Amino acid sequence: MTSKVKIAIAGVGNCASSLVQGLEYYRHHDSSEAAGLIHPELGGYRIEDVEVVAAFDVDRRKVGRPLHEAIFAHPNCTTVFQRELSETSVTVQMGPVLDGIAGHMDRYPDDRAFRPSDAAPVDISEALKASGAEILVCYLPVGSEQAVRHYAKACLDAGVALVNCVPVFIASNPEFAEQFVKKGLPIVGDDIKSQFGATLLHRIITRTLGDRGVKIERTYQLNTGGNTDFLNMLEQTRLASKKVSKTESVQSQLDQRLADENIHIGPSDYVPWQNDNKICFLRLEWRGFGDVPMNLEARLSVEDSPNSAGVVIDAVRCAKLALDRKISGPLDAASACMMKHPRKQMRDSEAFLALEEFIKGQDGMTRAPRQRISADSQEELAAQRQLHVDSLQVLDPVGPRLAPREAVGVTTKGNGQRPFDMTPDKRA
Ligand SMILES: NC(=O)c1ccc[n+]([C@@H]2O[C@H](COP(=O)([O-])OP(=O)(O)OC[C@H]3O[C@@H](n4cnc5c(N)ncnc54)[C@H](O)[C@@H]3O)[C@@H](O)[C@H]2O)c1
Repeated sequence: MTSKVKIAIAGVGNCASSLVQGLEYYRHHDSSEAAGLIHPELGGYRIEDVEVVAAFDVDRRKVGRPLHEAIFAHPNCTTVFQRELSETSVTVQMGPVLDGIAGHMDRYPDDRAFRPSDAAPVDISEALKASGAEILVCYLPVGSEQAVRHYAKACLDAGVALVNCVPVFIASNPEFAEQFVKKGLPIVGDDIKSQFGATLLHRIITRTLGDRGVKIERTYQLNTGGNTDFLNMLEQTRLASKKVSKTESVQSQLDQRLADENIHIGPSDYVPWQNDNKICFLRLEWRGFGDVPMNLEARLSVEDSPNSAGVVIDAVRCAKLALDRKISGPLDAASACMMKHPRKQMRDSEAFLALEEFIKGQDGMTRAPRQRISADSQEELAAQRQLHVDSLQVLDPVGPRLAPREAVGVTTKGNGQRPFDMTPDKRA
């Protein structure tokens, strides 16, 4: 396969920095040997086939600069694991600010917070068309409801697919989803799930406890971090959809929903010195055999932005496969596997298998545009899905296990080693 996967990026923050660094990193490392990738190759597309052709931001340290410099500009603070980048002709263009910048950012130092540029915003739809982008990766701050919708509409207008990493509901909003179907465009969303993060850990423990017959009574997930994502989320009014996304992701794995007062999940505080290191404190309380009370406490430490970049590289390649196969609308298997708030939640183990079927072109979960499904074939489809679920249960009552290749690649900082250069230099 020689064709490129041409992507545009909205929001050149820490996640974009890890993504762009990773695209270069895996060019110089054998992607089947190096850690961190779920799919070195996905549907014939390798990491080196992914090319960034446009980028948008609103910060004056980033707008107007080449992308390979802008990703290291303040206030980005993520680990630098690939310092040397190929020069790119992509210049970061000014987007419309709308509700992208929270008011309280003013009260924090320049190197910690967003600072808007006075450049005039470009027409996003025209800029997407001019760049030849096929897929937009949306990395805007939490709470940017208007701005994310603006970029989603620009995608619809320009004929560009969307990977929505933000907890603003687009793929899981039926009206937006239908518009993507009508335009023949795929969408993966909403709110990226990290390679191994707090949400995945919480979901897996919750589901396993349910499968083992215990009754979960209460749980919390408290998260702290020191990047602009956490600073932005100090503003409670911006948090509504983030809390829904994270909480529903865990609720969906329970046999019986917990009452709101018994489940607390969210970003909990901004600790500047943590930079892009995110720490999650997890507690679950349950009653086991004989109604005897038991509990679990866990602490997870991850570098937030590289933790999601590999998943995004898979998501864009799934969107590209869907474009090739003329599949439109929300990609349910990819979204259930890679996003916290898909329109259809699944067990992670089932989502993983459904995604593999999608990649092989053997799934029954996506639909081609304008193709009516007859009553007969609908029954057949339902029977196939049931067969799929039954076969999963036969395979393993808890869920299918990952082959060793899929199990590798969790890179955390919890072991005290610092394998990468953490010096935040090369910034503006
Ligand atoms: N790190 C993860 O693993 C992870 C997981 C789930 C979700 N997310 C979400 O991904 C998004 C990006 O995260 P991040 O850590 O890169 O955030 P960030 O704060 O580092 O970057 C956001 C970028 O968006 C820019 N921006 C603000 N308004 C804009 C606008 N109107 N147009 C264009 N650019 C605009 C900012 O200047 C900044 O560069 C956040 O919503 C975050 O919650 C991240």
